[in-house]
Amino acid sequence: MIGAPVAPSPLTELRDPRLAQAGVRLLLKRDDLLHPDLPGNKWRKLRHNLTRAAELGHDTLLTFGGAYSNHLRAVAAAGARFGFRTVGVVRGEEHLPLNEVLTFAVGRGMRLTYLDRTTYRAKHTAPVVEALRERFGRFYLLPEGGSNALAVHGCAELPAEIAVPYDIVCCPVGTGGTLAGIAAGLEPGRRALGVSVLRGGAFLTDEVTRLQTEAYGQASGNWSIALDFHSGGYARSDAALETFTDDFAARHGLRLDRIYVAKMMRAVFTMAENGAFPPGTVIVAVITGPMSQG
Ligand SMILES: Cc1ncc(COP(=O)(O)O)c(C=O)c1O
Repeated sequence: MIGAPVAPSPLTELRDPRLAQAGVRLLLKRDDLLHPDLPGNKWRKLRHNLTRAAELGHDTLLTFGGAYSNHLRAVAAAGARFGFRTVGVVRGEEHLPLNEVLTFAVGRGMRLTYLDRTTYRAKHTAPVVEALRERFGRFYLLPEGGSNALAVHGCAELPAEIAVPYDIVCCPVGTGGTLAGIAAGLEPGRRALGVSVLRGGAFLTDEVTRLQTEAYGQASGNWSIALDFHSGGYARSDAALETFTDDFAARHGLRLDRIYVAKMMRAVFTMAENGAFPPGTVIVAVITGPMSQG
């Protein structure tokens, strides 16, 4: 069994007059502090997969991602730490010099290969996987974003770490694995709220349902996804998000990652201010990605 790199992540309260006005308390589950190279949902998603890969006798992990994928970075780090070779299949063409993410991955020993966008869309089909096996030999395949049934089980361990009363857990949603797991791990009476970071994220409802069904045989029915806080789409930003993020940094001394965490936080504040949560609601927001002093 591959153990946790650190103890459960800290829980801290964020005090803000806008939330007080709405009668809402907000606690931050600081998963960004879990591990420097495997922060946030990365460790939770990888943990049981690494154990399974080792049990099946694999020495190589292969996975997929865009050139700026936090997941590729994390798999490279996990491979180096736990003794697996790693192969990263990158969407699109090679661009040299490598960006910071891919430089880090190669520095941790990851071999990179590139798939054109059309082939990349078919990356999980048998012909593409077979061609990769011919080239790289036997490997344990982690899907893009790392979301599979074992990742869902890992994320489902988060709620048990919250030792205070609360009503709702919030997290950003990219592929849906984190929300699927957190919701599945909740005690009855509690709910999970995901915030889509993608434009056109309506399909994510099917994805989360599919992942929960794959992991547990059924969907848990205690979650929903807010679709209107994507700020233009994945890795995009707009004036509302910029203003919110700068204001948040000025008030709280914390700079939120715009791709995921800032979108979730803006959703929480906007919904609270719009009266979406009954007074007295305690919300736990999972800080899944980097948050720096700023
Ligand atoms: C920092 C961060 N937060 C949230 C997510 C979204 O997680 P999921 O893809 O499981 O929906 C990701 C992507 O994995 C991420 O890198």
